[in-house]
Amino acid sequence: MTDLHVRKMSFAFADYDVPFLWNPANPAFSSMANAVSFLAIGFEKMIVKMILQTKPLITDAAVAEEADAFMRQEGQHSAAHRQHVKALIKRYPGLQETLDEVIGEFDRLTRETSLNYRLAYTADLEATFTPVFKLMLDNDSTLFRPGDDRVASLFIWHFVEEVEHRSSALIIFDSVVGSDLYRMRVAPSIFRHVMKVIRMACEGFNQHVPLEDRKIDALSMFASYRRKQSLRRRLPLLSAEDHGPMDRAFDHLPLGEQLTALAGIVRSQLPKHNPAHEKLPALADVWFERYDAGYDVTHWYTADAAAS
Ligand SMILES: [Fe+2]
Ligand SMILES: [Fe+2]
Repeated sequence: MTDLHVRKMSFAFADYDVPFLWNPANPAFSSMANAVSFLAIGFEKMIVKMILQTKPLITDAAVAEEADAFMRQEGQHSAAHRQHVKALIKRYPGLQETLDEVIGEFDRLTRETSLNYRLAYTADLEATFTPVFKLMLDNDSTLFRPGDDRVASLFIWHFVEEVEHRSSALIIFDSVVGSDLYRMRVAPSIFRHVMKVIRMACEGFNQHVPLEDRKIDALSMFASYRRKQSLRRRLPLLSAEDHGPMDRAFDHLPLGEQLTALAGIVRSQLPKHNPAHEKLPALADVWFERYDAGYDVTHWYTADAAAS
């Protein structure tokens, strides 16, 4: 029997304006998280279609149950991120074009790539989430707490459920495809595609959100772009389009924790990787306990104050 729980959430994004710069203390992280919202809508839409195609091929009842719960959780995530992005589009209508492009990229994968490729895509990418989200959740006091509580709560919910279903995509891949070699062989093209989509979102932010609202160059998370821009700035003959400061989201985090996350990403792609053995963020346990106790997890940092 699967341990996954499908939780429906609503984050009151329609109640009042959702700022692009939802954590003013960290514009680079605000923008990066917004890009995750765009990616999540397309990626999780692809997952839902992929699991529907995969179900008839699953012979093990426990795996079928896991796949169903996994699909339902991802469906909820996608729906919540749509509400978040809808609010951003209301403020910056040009972002609709960006969302269409991002979703279009994942729809293209659904149309043009094999089911095995998409199962590997999902298994590879989801395997990186636990170490990456642990870094973020372990540092929630600077990354999430100072921000808009609705946006912070959306990401905290999504990330703890990604930790909860960290084994699902690999279990499904192993049951249907079952080849570490194939998964490793396609990994470079998968991560190239992930980067391409994030870049697409960030280019859309630079184009459609004024600098006074985003406060940074949304593409500054890409090392190659940073190098190119600094070269352009030094060589005035090359015309440089300036999209703002080149801050990075995690510069203030302890280097040891950043390296641990990086090592976790590499480990997640190796053969026989078992996400069940990963070190988990302490916040995940707190979140599940509070949820079970009836705490309002859609206002993670302010529910207490509202109740008292
Ligand atoms: Fe998700
Ligand atoms: Fe997931």
